[in-house]
Amino acid sequence: MYESYYGLNAKPFQLTPDPGFFFASKWHKRAMSYLQYGLSQAEGFIVITGDIGTGKTTVANSLLAEIQDDIFAAQIVTPKLSPDELVKMVASKFDINTDGRSKAEILKMLEVFLYDLSTQGRRALLLVDEAQNLPLESIEELRMLSNFQLNGKPLIQSFLLGQEELQPILRAPNMEQFRQRIVASCHLAPLTLQESKEYIEYRLHHAGWNGVDLFSEGAYERIFQFTRGVPRKINTLMDRIMLFGFLEELKSFDEDAVKEVIDEVKAEMFEPEGGAPSKEPAAYDEHPQDKVMMTPKGNVIRDSKYYIDMLGELVDALDDAISQKVKMSQYVDKLMKKKFKTYIRLKADDKKDSQE
Ligand SMILES: Nc1ncnc2c1ncn2[C@@H]1O[C@H](COP(=O)(O)OP(=O)(O)OP(=O)(O)O)[C@@H](O)[C@H]1O
Ligand SMILES: [Mg+2]
Repeated sequence: MYESYYGLNAKPFQLTPDPGFFFASKWHKRAMSYLQYGLSQAEGFIVITGDIGTGKTTVANSLLAEIQDDIFAAQIVTPKLSPDELVKMVASKFDINTDGRSKAEILKMLEVFLYDLSTQGRRALLLVDEAQNLPLESIEELRMLSNFQLNGKPLIQSFLLGQEELQPILRAPNMEQFRQRIVASCHLAPLTLQESKEYIEYRLHHAGWNGVDLFSEGAYERIFQFTRGVPRKINTLMDRIMLFGFLEELKSFDEDAVKEVIDEVKAEMFEPEGGAPSKEPAAYDEHPQDKVMMTPKGNVIRDSKYYIDMLGELVDALDDAISQKVKMSQYVDKLMKKKFKTYIRLKADDKKDSQE
């Protein structure tokens, strides 16, 4: 509706997770790196958790969009699936007909399918979204699936994405065997104020906006305050703000305009009594160094800013190390694939020679 008024060629704030609109914030970039790292490991489980609407499905879709042909990826979004239903669902995602078959039969077919895939030099990846809905026994079933191997090489790898409730499930004492198979995990946090601003600008530009300064600094702060940096909330609010701008014929937005929309939206939303129960994001705490920080034993940490900066640098260095490792593994992967192809070719030549 407002697109043509602002010279846009697409809706900039749609709610569907679209890899084309992927914005690589620090956390999203890290989550992508973990997933790519996991892919290069070709075994075990990768777990990505995050608050509601922070972009888990978007990250998964972005990964799927760039996956190569040698990986057969299947994505399942789980309501509360029992172990048997889960096995059925996994099999059907791999195009196995499960009609009228017992669980044992389906597992056998799944195993044969995974072997075949492996002999073609391919492998299977299972992306389980909304994994917080899975009962413990179903997660355990996933672990059993990860036991399918050929010459010591796992035939299937799984990524679990879920809201925060997934964390206590995985921490349960009887999940130790599962935990030991987790090769990497990461938590998606909401965007900071600066990232929220960049996110909004990114989406607008991606939808064809080529002006500057559509929003004042105060307007961005209001948006951040209301949405707390959660991308889905930003999208919903931004859609309303843009519509308001179109109806009021605004060429730019100041704090008051944004406040007016927020007041309207608040009145319409079914927020729980006493406001939304979300937590203050750490990034909203703009000057953590001003607080008195203490060790667990109560000693005051002097010069805490120094330690915060140092930890920040350490996190960045670890991120870089992961990216390097991913690149390295991808390179080794490529080499292995080449070798495998040469091996198959030579074997075929040998066979031909011996037949002649
Ligand atoms: N990094 C990102 N780049 C672009 N858009 C994003 C990003 N992260 C989230 N979004 C947008 O935010 C909205 C919510 O994202 P998504 O559905 O991926 O969240 P989620 O964490 O899977 O939510 P839920 O907990 O409800 O499953 C979508 O409209 C998506 O387009
Ligand atoms: Mg999701």
